Amino acid sequence: MKQVNLGPQGLSVPAIGLGCMGMSDFYGSSSEAQNLYVLGRAAEMGCTFWDTSDMYGPFTNEILLSKALKGRRSQITLATKFGVSRGEDGSWQGIKGNADYVKACCDASLKRLGTDYIDLYYQHRLDPNTPIEETVGAMAELVKAGKVRYIGLSEAGPETITRAHKIHPVSALQTEYSLWTRDVEADILPTIQRLNIGFVAYSPLGRGFLSGAIRSRNDLKPGDWRLQNPRFSEEAIARNSRLAALVAEVAKEIEATAAQVALAWLLSRDIPLATIPGTRRTERLEENWASQDITLRPEHLSRLESLIGQGVAGNRY
Ligand SMILES: NC(=O)c1ccc[n+]([C@@H]2O[C@H](COP(=O)([O-])OP(=O)(O)OC[C@H]3O[C@@H](n4cnc5c(N)ncnc54)[C@H](OP(=O)(O)O)[C@@H]3O)[C@@H](O)[C@H]2O)c1
Repeated sequence: MKQVNLGPQGLSVPAIGLGCMGMSDFYGSSSEAQNLYVLGRAAEMGCTFWDTSDMYGPFTNEILLSKALKGRRSQITLATKFGVSRGEDGSWQGIKGNADYVKACCDASLKRLGTDYIDLYYQHRLDPNTPIEETVGAMAELVKAGKVRYIGLSEAGPETITRAHKIHPVSALQTEYSLWTRDVEADILPTIQRLNIGFVAYSPLGRGFLSGAIRSRNDLKPGDWRLQNPRFSEEAIARNSRLAALVAEVAKEIEATAAQVALAWLLSRDIPLATIPGTRRTERLEENWASQDITLRPEHLSRLESLIGQGVAGNRY
């Protein structure tokens, strides 16, 4: 099993974690019993870096995790997030990061998760109306109080990361990164490398697209959030299908699956990186987990590298 140390304080996590968002939100319905089975299997295998947020569900994803954490809390590195405010009915209430809000969110997450500490607490999105120093100052107080072990940011830019890190060491930046989303390479990865901050790549399978499982909008059920995402318009899917085809071609050559190639490519990056593919199926969990045993050869890496050169249709949001 590949372990990776994130950040200056050395938070050690398995390189392949589990994104739990899709179990409760955005990607269609699922069964609680099945989700708990997947989480149990993940714990058994050593896939113990679990990612959630208060806004997934909203709130229900943390409650789901509380059930899976029973009897195994100490085995799991639990990451959750605050900052994207939603009502119980799913309504959007804006981005918030003021100190009182941060502390109230933490207490509410701890209660829902049925635990007295969060291993890694992220600010989910930057609040443009609150200085990052106030938000991270509040997160630092949570660390002092023993409610949080390490802190992280999600989708933050270089200036925010640098300012935050001066207030309290940031262990991880979580941002989208995959073969078809490489924006972070320009300014963000150099910043975190300079500051010795770890990286957690979300949506590593391109929200499922890079696995080859989504060939048309008909593969997505009504209500699936991806139907509103520009990369999943009929036109974008048609134009991006050659990207999925190239990943599949490499996969065939090395007797792996396309999802495994997408994950192995991320693990080949020369930075302290963990990734959190999301799935609601044990066979996919096991498939994704096995990607850590795959080493891509230079010729495969350079063919995959050429993907981005061909351009990607549709914005990522
Ligand atoms: N910080 C942020 O703003 C942010 C934003 C988005 C996501 N995230 C986090 O990142 C995690 C992962 O991202 P994501 O779920 O958006 O995208 P992803 O991991 O790139 O893809 C998940 C999708 O791929 C499918 N899938 C998984 N393994 C597969 C395989 N081996 N073969 C074929 N299909 C497969 C899943 O379907 P099934 O479930 O049906 O298997 C699901 O539809 C989330 O769970 C969440 O924790 C964070």
